Formats: sequence, structure tokens, C-alpha cells
Amino acid sequence: MLTAKVTVDRDFVIDRVDPRLFGGFAEHLGRCIYEGIYEPDHPTADADGFRGDVLALVRELDMPVMRYPGGNFVSGYQWEDGIGPREQRPSRLDLAWKSTEPNLFGTDEFAAWCRKVGTAPMLAVNLGTRGPEDARRLVEYCNHPGGSELSDLRRANGYAEPHGVKLWCLGNEVDGPWQMGHKTATEYGRVACEAAKLMKWTDPSIEMIACGSSHRHMPTFGDWEREVLTHTFDHVDYVSIHTYYGNGEGDTPSFLAKPDSMGEFIDEVVCTADHVAAVRHSRKRIMLSFDEWNVWFRSSNDREKRKIKDWELAPPILEDQYTMEDALVVGGMLITLLNHCDRVKIGCIAQVVNVIAPILTQKGGPAWRQPIFWPLQQASTLGRGTVLRALVDSPKYDCKERAGADLLGLSVVRDDEGGLTLFAVNRSLTEPLAVDLDARSFGAFATASHEVLRHDDLLATNTIDAQSTVVPTTLAAPTVDGGRMTVVGMWCG
Ligand code: AHR
Repeated sequence: MLTAKVTVDRDFVIDRVDPRLFGGFAEHLGRCIYEGIYEPDHPTADADGFRGDVLALVRELDMPVMRYPGGNFVSGYQWEDGIGPREQRPSRLDLAWKSTEPNLFGTDEFAAWCRKVGTAPMLAVNLGTRGPEDARRLVEYCNHPGGSELSDLRRANGYAEPHGVKLWCLGNEVDGPWQMGHKTATEYGRVACEAAKLMKWTDPSIEMIACGSSHRHMPTFGDWEREVLTHTFDHVDYVSIHTYYGNGEGDTPSFLAKPDSMGEFIDEVVCTADHVAAVRHSRKRIMLSFDEWNVWFRSSNDREKRKIKDWELAPPILEDQYTMEDALVVGGMLITLLNHCDRVKIGCIAQVVNVIAPILTQKGGPAWRQPIFWPLQQASTLGRGTVLRALVDSPKYDCKERAGADLLGLSVVRDDEGGLTLFAVNRSLTEPLAVDLDARSFGAFATASHEVLRHDDLLATNTIDAQSTVVPTTLAAPTVDGGRMTVVGMWCG
């Protein structure tokens, strides 16, 4: 049988996991907000119009942070449209997604929803069509206790307590020509620097995230981060990083190896950020906010396929129906994030409901878990503590994506009570893979549980009528002998 040897030592540490690694993202896009989060006529809706079934499922994911309101949407957003009495709020054309935005849900409702979920809001400001002063005003509206025009407006709108938003994204994917208010790195770097200054002067306790590249294959990648951080270095804490992977070509071995490329992408952004620090003779380290990541490719032609017209309200776009195979890649991406937790402090799966999301809903009907829900839930609930630097000697395979990819994807997390969790993906399409674990530095230990997400059909999915086709199963915990154990993962599981 194929065997990977894994050695872990309690003292070989990568870093503590920042719980914010397991965050989510909610954009005014498709049916994420309307029919996802907010549906006042839904049988489970509460007094605020929030769907109770969705609230319950999001709580299961235990996401410590939630990014909002975009995404591409934010680059044309006027936050003032979304506050105050609903009947006075305007409907606007959203140029990002060619939809009509009714503004029935805005910043205050989002903050209220976050409180109910038990997550912290992370807001993006519009640095596309707007600028530093509008961004600063939003900080004042959200975070200033009272006694100023905008904080008093919040109070008059029914929110006496400040929303206390700590994390702020300085725009979204401004390097992309598809973005409203697309800018060069120099143009963006200057605006982001000035916005960050004004926002922090309004509330010095906040943390700022500068926009990195939209993805690794942008022509400006690398130069963009260097130039933007050169302008913003003293005023920001994080640089963003985004990636989506797909299997449009039906090349599953390559698809399964994508999380390794994600790791290289992280390393490159870290090097670029540290280069800027070196040039400045600074010990400050800019951390990474991986605030958009996921599998996304199944819904690319949805507009045409579903005959969706321009300017519809909450059109069903970007509703990828995920499969077992996608869950393996999402699991692999989580393993990559955990193994880079010394520099990646924030992660937001894009997105949380309906739009490329772990949760799907039907208007007026049920909400259910997609296959990718499970690796997220497992990582978020079991991946808290300290990531150990495991020594992995895995059998390899070659694919178009890379030569010599490890068949085993693995991360090891030690919790604060000393317990160990191994997150593992077997990337073999044909063979079981045994993990031979040597954890002797932990002394005598016992195994508590062994959970597996697996299906014979890699394209198996969960639908409204069959919601539990891809679900984890509990197997007998492997036996331990003198600090060693062997656990076998079936192919692709
Ligand atoms: O998450 C969907 C979209 O992907 C976001 O709006 C944008 O930032 C990214 O390109």
C-alpha cells in the first residue's frame, strides 16, 4: 500500500492560528444578501427579516469574521444609501453585477446580523468611485460613540452602541480593469495611504488591509504589491490576497494539486512585503489577509444559461453547485492556509450563502449544506490552537499543474489542551494511502475520533432533494502503539 511517513514534534511550531483564518464573506451579489441572509417573508425569518435557517448554518461554521459589502460591488457603493428608514432608501443600478440594488439591507443590518451570528464585521470601503473622506465618514458612522454628526445619525437610526468594526479593507481588487475605478498601483497606493490615515485618525484602534493583486496571474502581480506597500507601509497592517481555482478542463489530478500553488502564491506575497520592509530598514511585518478564496468555475456561464436579464434584483448568479471533488480542493486550501498561519492571519471563504458558497437556499424553502461546507466546518472547529511543522515524506505524482506533487496534503494542529488534530487529503484517484504517524514526543496518547468525507463519485453533490449525499462519516479511531499510529485514507478522501 502507498504510505506517507509523518513525524510531528510538540516543539516544532509554525505559529498559533489566528481564529480569523476561518472567516466568511457576504457581498451584495446575486442571492447572497436577498434570499440568503435577508428574506423577511421566509417562514424562519426573525423580527429583523434574517433567515433563521441560514443563521443556524452559518453559526455551525463558527466564523470569527465576516467581510462585507463586496467584492466588486463595493467599488460603486454609496454606504449612505443603505442606512435610515427603508422606505427612503434608493434603488440603484449596480454596475459590477448588472443588477438592481434595493438597499433594503445595509451597514446597520449587517452589523446586527453579525451580532446574531456571533461574528465580527469586516468592512470594505469604496476606493473605486469614491475616496478617503467618504471612507473616513463610514468609520465615524460605525465606530464613534456619539456627539458628532455621523455617530449621532447612527444613534438616530436605532443603533445607540457603536458597531466597533476593527477590520477595514481599503477597496477591492483595484488592480483589475473590471473594477469600477480601476487604478494603477501608484494611483491606488496614494489614495489608500490617505484613506488609511484619515480612517485611523478617526478611530486609532482599527486595522487596515491594503489591496493586493486580484490573483497570481495578473500581469502586474508582484510589482503591484511592492508599489502599493511602498506608499502604504506605515499605515496598513495587512495586504490582501485572492484566489479561485477550478477544474474546467476536467484535469482532476491538477485540480487537486492547486492548493500547493496557493502556498507558493502566499510565499511570493510574503517575500514582496518583506522586500518593502527591508528597503525601509523596518522590522514591521505586513501580514496577509486571504479575504477571497474558494473553488469557482461551475457558474461561469450562468447568465446566458439561465437567461438572466440585466438589472434584475437578486438574480441567481454565481451559484456553483459544489461536488465531492471541490470539497477535496477546499480541504486542501484550508490545509495550505493552516500551514501558512505565521503570515496569513485572516481568511474569508468567498462567499457565505448562495454565491459560490457552502450554503444554498431556496426562496421560501429550505437551506442546505454543500459538500464544501464540511471541510470548512471541520477546520474552523478543530483547527484552533498551534500549527506544528510536520515532516512529511509522501509518495508523489506528476500532473500538468506540477511535477512531483505530494499525494498527501497534511496539516497538524495542537489545541490548547494538548490534543492533536490531523487534517489530511489523499490525492490519489486510485489507491488508498496510509499515513504512518510518529508522534512520540507526545508520550503515550490515545485517538479520540476519525472523521472522513468521501464518496465513490467525485461529482456527487448535495441538492435540495438529497441534502446529505456528501456528508462526513465517523470511522473507528486507529490504534496507537508507543506514540505511533497508522491511519488509512481511501483514494480521494
Ligand atoms: O467573490 C466574487 C467576486 O470575485 C468578488 O466580487 C470580486 O472581488 C472577485 O473578483
